[in-house]
Amino acid sequence: MSLPMKIRLCNLDESVSPRFIQKTFTFENHDGTHALMVSVPEVLGSQYGMHVWPCAVVLAQYVWTTREKIQRKNVLELGAGVSLPGIVAAKCGAHVTLSDSAEIPLCLENSRRCCELNDLHGVPVVGLTWGEISPELRSLPPVDIILGSDVFYEPEDFEDVLVTVSFLLRRNPSGQFWTTFQERSSDWTIETLLNKWNLRCTDVPLDIFHANKKHLAGSTLPGNHSIQMMIVTARTKT
Ligand SMILES: C[S@@+](CC[C@H](N)C(=O)[O-])C[C@H]1O[C@@H](n2cnc3c(N)ncnc32)[C@H](O)[C@@H]1O
Repeated sequence: MSLPMKIRLCNLDESVSPRFIQKTFTFENHDGTHALMVSVPEVLGSQYGMHVWPCAVVLAQYVWTTREKIQRKNVLELGAGVSLPGIVAAKCGAHVTLSDSAEIPLCLENSRRCCELNDLHGVPVVGLTWGEISPELRSLPPVDIILGSDVFYEPEDFEDVLVTVSFLLRRNPSGQFWTTFQERSSDWTIETLLNKWNLRCTDVPLDIFHANKKHLAGSTLPGNHSIQMMIVTARTKT
C-alpha cells in the first residue's frame, strides 16, 4: 500500500483553509429537458478525491439512466471522493452510503460537504480502506449496488479494491459492482484477479446510456478520455 505517498500527492495541508469551487452537473431526460442538477464542492489545487474525475460523470450518467432500478436499493460508493455518482443515486431514491479511505479524513469531510450542498441529510459517510475487512465494512447492511468511479488507477491497489468488492458480494450474491475506469495503460488488466476472487465482469458500452460523448451532464470532463464501464458480479458455481 502506498497511502503515505498518496496523501502527499493530495497536497492536503490541514493548516491552510481549503479554497473551494462549486461545479454543477445537469442530467437530462430523453427529450433533452433538464431533470436533475447536482452541485459538488471541489478543493482547488488538490488531487484525487477532492475533485470530480471524468469517470465519475460517466458513472453518474449510468446511475441516472438506470434510476428506476436503484430506488430503495442499498448503494455503497467506494473511493467516492466528491461522490457525484452516489449523490445522483441518493437523489434518485437509493439508500446511499458514501465511503473513502479511512486514512484521508479530509476526503470524507468533503463527501459530507457535498451531501449538505445537495440537501441530502442523513447519508452516512464512512471510512473504508480497500482490502481491509474492518468493523465499519462488516457493519454495513447487505449492499445491492456498489459504485466505484476511477478506483482502478493504481495497479498495486487493484486487488485491494476487489477484496472489498468480493467480501460485499459474498454477503449479497445478487449484488453488482458498477465501475468506470480510464484506460491509462494497455498493460493493466484485472482478469486474473477477477478469477482469483471468484468474480466475473460484463462490459457496458457507453453508447447504450448515451455517455459516449465529450460533453456529458453539462460538463466537458469526459473529453477525449478513454473511459470504460463494467459490471462485476459474483461468479456462480456451475
Ligand atoms: C481517482 S480518485 C476518484 C474519486 C471519485 N471516485 C471520482 O471519480 O471523482 C480515487 C479515490 O479513491 C480514494 N482512495 C485511494 N486509495 C484508497 C484506499 N486504499 N481505500 C479507499 N479509498 C481510496 C481516493 O481518496 C479518491 O477519492
